Amino acid sequence: MTLAAIETSGLSKRYPGGRGVADLDLTVQRGEIFGFLGPNGAGKTTTMKMILDLIRPTSGTIRVLGLDPVAQGAELRAQLGYLPGELVLDGSENVGELLAFFARLQGSVDQAWVTELADRLELDRSRKVKNLSKGNKQKVGIVQAFMHRPALLVLDEPTSGLDPLMQQVFLNLVTEAKDHGQTVFMSSHILSEVQEVAERVAIIKDGRLVTISTVAALQQQAVSQVEIRFAEDFSTEDFAGLEHVGAVRADGHTLHCTVDGSVDALVKQAARYRVEALFCHKPDLESLFMDEYVKEGAPVVH
Ligand SMILES: Nc1ncnc2c1ncn2[C@@H]1O[C@H](COP(=O)(O)OP(=O)(O)OP(=O)(O)O)[C@@H](O)[C@H]1O
Ligand SMILES: [Mg+2]
Repeated sequence: MTLAAIETSGLSKRYPGGRGVADLDLTVQRGEIFGFLGPNGAGKTTTMKMILDLIRPTSGTIRVLGLDPVAQGAELRAQLGYLPGELVLDGSENVGELLAFFARLQGSVDQAWVTELADRLELDRSRKVKNLSKGNKQKVGIVQAFMHRPALLVLDEPTSGLDPLMQQVFLNLVTEAKDHGQTVFMSSHILSEVQEVAERVAIIKDGRLVTISTVAALQQQAVSQVEIRFAEDFSTEDFAGLEHVGAVRADGHTLHCTVDGSVDALVKQAARYRVEALFCHKPDLESLFMDEYVKEGAPVVH
């Protein structure tokens, strides 16, 4: 039995129009939070639907929790929580009734947990489903995905429509799910929120994997912007040419430069002067992500 939560090999989906996903090799380990990132039309929803067996691959293989989603779908579905990207909720029942319906479909659901989820997301259970705002419909979808504490959560743009406060509540739920040993595979365009919770991310573009990396490694690769404020005059020549240091310039008593790797040489040189303040900015994943799109050529796989 495979230990991976999701394992795809050469997974491809060709739509009549041509696009979809191509040759996707992806492994999500059990118990990890994995971010699946990419711009509109990249193939995120297509991949997730194949994991759920809502659409079938053109070629390639896919194992989910060690099972084949096509042949063992019923067994698998009980262990999966899915939040679709295009959630359609337009029934005339109220939220409480709909959640009770979802709970009956799932079977073993702890009512106290459903109540807690709804309360934490500030979801009013007396409201009619069809009259809910987009964000509140999204909350119903989130409660429905989490209510049976599934082994694997597949969440397609889970924070879309949520306000910043509710995004944080959601991220707390994701972190708690991981603490309970659940696996979370979530897609997003919003990288800053993924980097807060995910250990690893995959970036997909035009149906192909561009990068799989840990968030930490991505950040490590990134060039830092450093600013050092001295209490006295200094010479830029002391800093230009130092190991890992680039783009050196002076602004009064302040030195600006970039560091791509260890800051050791820079810090030791700076220590020869009196230092008033030192700032080091690591770019967030957002700017790294944009970098991936300007880079052309072979996929970067770490
Ligand atoms: N049913 C379909 N028939 C034909 N083409 C499709 C179909 N569904 C998706 N596609 C195409 O496949 C590609 C991937 O779409 P997909 O919905 O998986 O992207 P996505 O990454 O989820 O995008 P978004 O961020 O906009 O949700 C797109 O070019 C899309 O137009
Ligand atoms: Mg999508």
